[in-house]
Amino acid sequence: QPDLQPGAEPTVHTQQAYAPEDDFTAKWTRADAKQLQRLSDPNAASRENSMPASLTMPTVPQDFPDMSNGEVWVWDTWPLTDEHGNQYSVNGQEIIFSLVADRSLGFDDRHVFAKIGYFFRPAGIPADERPENGGWTYGGLVFKEGVTGTIFEDQSYSHQTQWSGSARIMKGGEIKLFFTDVAFYRDAAGNNIKPYDPRIALSVGKVHANKNGVKLTGFDKVTDLLQADGTYYQTGEQNPYFNFRDPFTFEDPAHPGETYMVFEGNSAMPRESAQCTEEDLGYREGDPYAESLDEVNASGATYQIGNIGLAKAKNDELTEWEFLPPILSANCVTDQTERPQFVFKDGKSYLFTISHRGTFAAGLDGPEGVYGFVGDGIRSDFQPLNSGSGLALGNPTNLNFAGGQPFAPDYNQHPGHFQAYSHYVMPGGLVQSFIDTIGTHDDFVRGGTLAPTVKMDIEGASTSVDYSYGTGGLGGWADIPANLDVNSGGKL
Ligand code: FRU
Ligand code: FRU
Ligand code: FRU
Ligand code: FRU
Repeated sequence: QPDLQPGAEPTVHTQQAYAPEDDFTAKWTRADAKQLQRLSDPNAASRENSMPASLTMPTVPQDFPDMSNGEVWVWDTWPLTDEHGNQYSVNGQEIIFSLVADRSLGFDDRHVFAKIGYFFRPAGIPADERPENGGWTYGGLVFKEGVTGTIFEDQSYSHQTQWSGSARIMKGGEIKLFFTDVAFYRDAAGNNIKPYDPRIALSVGKVHANKNGVKLTGFDKVTDLLQADGTYYQTGEQNPYFNFRDPFTFEDPAHPGETYMVFEGNSAMPRESAQCTEEDLGYREGDPYAESLDEVNASGATYQIGNIGLAKAKNDELTEWEFLPPILSANCVTDQTERPQFVFKDGKSYLFTISHRGTFAAGLDGPEGVYGFVGDGIRSDFQPLNSGSGLALGNPTNLNFAGGQPFAPDYNQHPGHFQAYSHYVMPGGLVQSFIDTIGTHDDFVRGGTLAPTVKMDIEGASTSVDYSYGTGGLGGWADIPANLDVNSGGKL
């Protein structure tokens, strides 16, 4: 266990499971998140990592290869999976989906122009025998122009984009693509005329793969599955900056035959009147480091009220869904719990989500990276991993200094502070992510392609980086290997 600086003790979490339908939401508390600063070395000098090596992604070199050969910016990426998170190749081709944007755009302008593209490569080749950039071929966009805009009643949008999701392989080569369909309504100056409208959506298509490559057909219709309800999940009316996106579907081992979905949301309080509670703070009785509720509520921390949502499918086609109460809230902790996913291991349910240094609430701090929680079921009193902090794998970061921005890193920050984001945990503890910015204030390069895959050991309520994987812990660039194959004669 890494050394801890003096500070508040984390909240006691039992990991106890509740029924998925129960009205119990686990809290990632301020007391929990305070452990992030307790893990940080207060003496780490300028440009050094202050966080424990076991929780830090090895430093990614600046001379990275581009997986798209100059065709597109690439960021959030997901494989073709089944209900258990297995990753499939089809007829010997591995297939991944990525958010992509035109390289003529600045990398930070990508969000309002994002579209889902796909890549493929032959399966079964060890990473060190592939081309350095991962050996992917860019297959193009999934949707034809106009298809994803059709679900919006108000067609006066200024930008219509496709945000993250997940892809399920079904019988007969059918793919169910779950994604976030988004409309922005902005004026010429870029200001909102009305709040943006993100919806969780489904489109169905088919994969055709042979030794020459992969083609997708279908994906010509979109079904609107879920819109934020204002009861469990904050709406644009409650807060124009709300987050509602990133569906990930799975089967809960405790409820075979049912399909559930986790997604990113915010607690459904109006932005200006949101209040956190003693339970959101989570300090133990008599903790000398405890903050007072009034102090926290007056600090601006109430603008950061992320949650992780749960929904359940009502039909086998997965076209009808109902909301369940959120499984995790991060009230007065962070505003973004993005791309949530479940990994089931050793009878435990591991919930992972990505978050940013810049979205932590006032008085809290932690690196860009993936955070994790463990419990006895998909709705549990989740225990944040690693000394109760929640950090599973962060970028090399110095919490003694400001972070700056990906387009302007802070002078004293480690060159890896923004090296990777959107970490996705794969079978065997492999973790893929995309490169954002690598380098120091005076010498940095923007990314837009996938980082080297790394490996994380997951054991009980702890994770640790496997430095024996690849070279010093860094595996192949853009390495997203399938662990199962389907062929035309196979059972799928
Ligand atoms: C079964 C179940 C289990 C859980 C228990 C909690 O319906 O949801 O998954 O462990 O109930 O009461
Ligand atoms: C995604 C994000 C969202 C925001 C959107 C708009 O990383 O920062 O939080 O709503 O982009 O640009
Ligand atoms: C994560 C993310 C996702 C979102 C997408 C938008 O990097 O913010 O939550 O779907 O990027 O570009
Ligand atoms: C803070 C905030 C953040 C959110 C951002 C959106 O004022 O609400 O929590 O990420 O603004 O612009």
